[in-house]
Amino acid sequence: MDYESTALTRLSYGPLRRPKDKGVGPHNDKTPARTVTAFGGFDRFKTFGPPTERTLMEVSMTVNGRAVSAEVEPRTLLVHFIRENLRLTGTHVGCETGYCGACTVHVDGKAVKSCTMLAVQADGATILTIEGLAANGQLHPVQEGFWERHGLQCGFCTPGMIMSAVALLEQNNNPSEDEIRHGIEGNLCRCTGYHNIVRAVEYAGAKVRGEEPPPPDWERGE
Ligand code: FES
Ligand code: FES
Repeated sequence: MDYESTALTRLSYGPLRRPKDKGVGPHNDKTPARTVTAFGGFDRFKTFGPPTERTLMEVSMTVNGRAVSAEVEPRTLLVHFIRENLRLTGTHVGCETGYCGACTVHVDGKAVKSCTMLAVQADGATILTIEGLAANGQLHPVQEGFWERHGLQCGFCTPGMIMSAVALLEQNNNPSEDEIRHGIEGNLCRCTGYHNIVRAVEYAGAKVRGEEPPPPDWERGE
């Protein structure tokens, strides 16, 4: 950024000189050291440098039916709150940029990539993670489907994949193969080629509808 050309800089300080003997700025050797305070006394080192003191905020939410609360830094991602504060490590972290879906949980009944949300944004929400899916010792039909139809290999994508599939079946318990593929398209799997995952969701859909699931591919000779 050319600080000399910004109106804000000129308003605060007038045109900046670039004295050769005044040291260097934080980004390159052309940035004068005084630009640190060019924005009306704005101290860039204080704002973006190592934190000298931490601001904590209290968050409370219901996770898997349990009321929890903690003090977190405002920048804490929901996925880190779940994994590190609550020690619920079934929710995985893959990319932290919203691409892979490994971190998918339900927030107030909707599938959400928990790396795209701050913990403080979930204050007061109801969260469901993979650990809360089985009930009374019984796997959820989607978990059962992944087991019965070999819907996983390394298992890294599996918790997020299952949470997305559960959300899909809650909206439509009889999805076509295309609708299943569309429903899980935000979840990346590096192992399976998706085929058995689709079969697992078909199995789960049949279970949810109270029907007999279709036989597995290997019994149909596929
Ligand atoms: S870790 Fe959240 S989308 Fe990849
Ligand atoms: S089973 Fe390995 S990434 Fe999906």
